[in-house]
Amino acid sequence: MTNYETRVYKIDNNLIEKDYIELLKEEPAVEEAAELLKKGELVAFPTETVYGLGADALNPEAVKKIFLAKGRPQDNPLIVHIAELKQMEELMEGDLSINGRKLIDAFWPGPLTLIVKKRDIIPDITTAGLDSVAVRMPAHPLARAIIERAGLPVAAPCANVSGRPTPTKAAHLYNDLCGKIPLIIDGGAADVGVESTVLDIRGEMVRVLRPGGVSREEIRNVIGEFLSESHYSKSESERPLSPGMKYRHYSPETPLFIIENEDRLKLLMENASGKDIAFVLSDETYEKYSSCLDDIQVIKMGPRSNPEFIARNLFDLLRRIDSLSFRSVYIEAIPAVGIGEAVMNRLHKAAYRE
Ligand code: TXA
Ligand code: MG
Repeated sequence: MTNYETRVYKIDNNLIEKDYIELLKEEPAVEEAAELLKKGELVAFPTETVYGLGADALNPEAVKKIFLAKGRPQDNPLIVHIAELKQMEELMEGDLSINGRKLIDAFWPGPLTLIVKKRDIIPDITTAGLDSVAVRMPAHPLARAIIERAGLPVAAPCANVSGRPTPTKAAHLYNDLCGKIPLIIDGGAADVGVESTVLDIRGEMVRVLRPGGVSREEIRNVIGEFLSESHYSKSESERPLSPGMKYRHYSPETPLFIIENEDRLKLLMENASGKDIAFVLSDETYEKYSSCLDDIQVIKMGPRSNPEFIARNLFDLLRRIDSLSFRSVYIEAIPAVGIGEAVMNRLHKAAYRE
């Protein structure tokens, strides 16, 4: 693997917040990112969900570098990111279903990935040999500016080394990728904080393969009865629908236990003492039990009434917990509705299994 001198460019937040895509396209760092992608090099960049590690999706040599830099298993296919709808037609075989069109109208650009039948121009390495491809049009103006400027579909997984937590800030990925890639584009903290929802839209019924930034309820509002209520594979022994779901992605060094039941949580808090056990609590639970929290370490996760907030800060929280070297950590479960489904899915992946 080439040893790179990794450069990090911070982009003016004002341009991002104001959605000035045309101005962003003229930024020297964006131009450089586009040139690197065209040359078959890797670039880490922000999306609204998490940071991605991008390569030209149609160049097998470039895509191979993603797997090498991440240490990612080759049977785990990548999401191809586009900036314009006409790119979808270049990637996809056949016509879009009615439900597919409705979902695109409702959620693109945004945190939704669609699985469709692939065209032959997409190399096998991008899709791990599958005859389908995952496509997403991100909403983040920097991601869009880079993709538009490069004029390419960009394959991009989360920009972490496999097994490390998903990066939602540029600082999270610097240690993982320093020396392995030429360029990191820093666009501040990701807004959604969990990855996109992956939907298979090939059949009559649409299936959720991975819960994410667009909730089941929002999808049901658009396609109603055509959303399959069967759940994605939760157990690792089942054949996974979405190959990435079978990997544990990230397990913290610190044993993390999810507590679903409030009485059990209360009991644990009452009986805990010492500085080496921590409780991760919602703001509401913290308020409610503040009188019995004197002797224990508490980390607040944000309000239960605002699962979007919890999602946005989730991976940062998990990193923080792991850096504090507790003997064990108990985390309060939140309802698996709305984006809470994605939060609980990621927590279950990170939690300790005896
Ligand atoms: O929000 C996101 O989706 C982020 C940002 C960077 O866009 N990307 C991301 O990529 O999460 P990654 O590689 O970490 O996850 C891609 C998921 C995996 O679970 C993978 O197995 C699944 O999508 N996937 C990709 N192509 C697929 C296909 N053809 N069929 C089924 N699942 C597929
Ligand atoms: Mg990932």
